[in-house]
Amino acid sequence: MKSYEKKYHKYKSLIDQKIHSCIHKKEPVSLYEPMKYVLSASGKRIRPLLIVLSCEAVGGSMNEALNAAVAIEVLHNFTLVHDDIMDNAESRRGRATVHVRWDSNIAILVGDELVALAYRELLRTKSKAIAQVADVFTEGVVEVCEGQAYDKEYEMLHDVSIDDYLLMIAKKTGKLFSVSSEIGALIGGGTEREIRALRSFGTYIGRAFQIQDDLLDIIADEKEFGKKIGGDIIEGKKTFLLIRAAERAQGKDKKLIQSIIKNKGTSMKNIPVVKDIYERCGIIELAKQSIDKDIRQANLQLEKLRDTPAREMLFWFSNMVLNRQF
Ligand code: IPE
Ligand code: IPE
Ligand code: MG
Ligand code: MG
Ligand code: MG
Repeated sequence: MKSYEKKYHKYKSLIDQKIHSCIHKKEPVSLYEPMKYVLSASGKRIRPLLIVLSCEAVGGSMNEALNAAVAIEVLHNFTLVHDDIMDNAESRRGRATVHVRWDSNIAILVGDELVALAYRELLRTKSKAIAQVADVFTEGVVEVCEGQAYDKEYEMLHDVSIDDYLLMIAKKTGKLFSVSSEIGALIGGGTEREIRALRSFGTYIGRAFQIQDDLLDIIADEKEFGKKIGGDIIEGKKTFLLIRAAERAQGKDKKLIQSIIKNKGTSMKNIPVVKDIYERCGIIELAKQSIDKDIRQANLQLEKLRDTPAREMLFWFSNMVLNRQF
């Protein structure tokens, strides 16, 4: 286990270095200061790692995948900066969000340029499959936007089902994971079967990842998580937890859950109350089971690949997603 962690940190620092070299300009200061602020924060760099490992798992190398790895992370950072405006979020990665530290106009602009930088980096990929890679990447951007639209639409709706939710998270989060594993496999020159297996691996991992994110919103340690605990409840987000609680809670508990749905959120003081409901109604357990099931499905996809060190590390990777606390 320890050696995988070491390799993760090695890859992460290579990716970090290259991410930092994306920005060499200083002016306009109002743009490049927050740009650097975003890209220097301590993200987990999970999506780029998925690209690199998927590439290696089909016989490619880290070097071939590095531009695309940086591109997906820069794109992800764009989604975060705009997501924080949409979610009224104050903190991310343990620091003030861009729209809070600067303002929303700056945050919009930073996001815009991050998209451009992501494409610049992606299109530097030297691969026979570059046209397909660019296509998959672009479809990823489209679907994240669609997912984010559902996320906002659902805040206003009273009867969001678990299937609606699964569609929303497949787009807003799952897609960038499946894009990552697919792009890695494409660059590495994988066979049809390998590409399909890795894409599907990404889809399952992405779904587990978002349900885990919903769960951490209520059970994580704020400092470690780097985001404000209970933010989803305050904003009235239709998370896995809220939807399941609406189905299961009874009496007074049900009334509170329904009032959150009706009022499109609640105040800080209700966060511990809601947490207690989630615990008592077995919602936390249900989320954990769902994550566990997806991770098992994800791992089944890996069985379709050749037995390589990269595949072993992908097993480690899915386990890390399952057990993460931040
Ligand atoms: C946060 O993604 C957004 C979600 C899809 C839940 P990460 O948890 O990968 O965020 P960083 O990049 O590590 O900060
Ligand atoms: C993440 O959803 C989706 C995207 C950033 C596209 P969240 O809104 O749950 O992510 P966090 O919790 O703010 O990181
Ligand atoms: Mg959001
Ligand atoms: Mg958010
Ligand atoms: Mg979240």
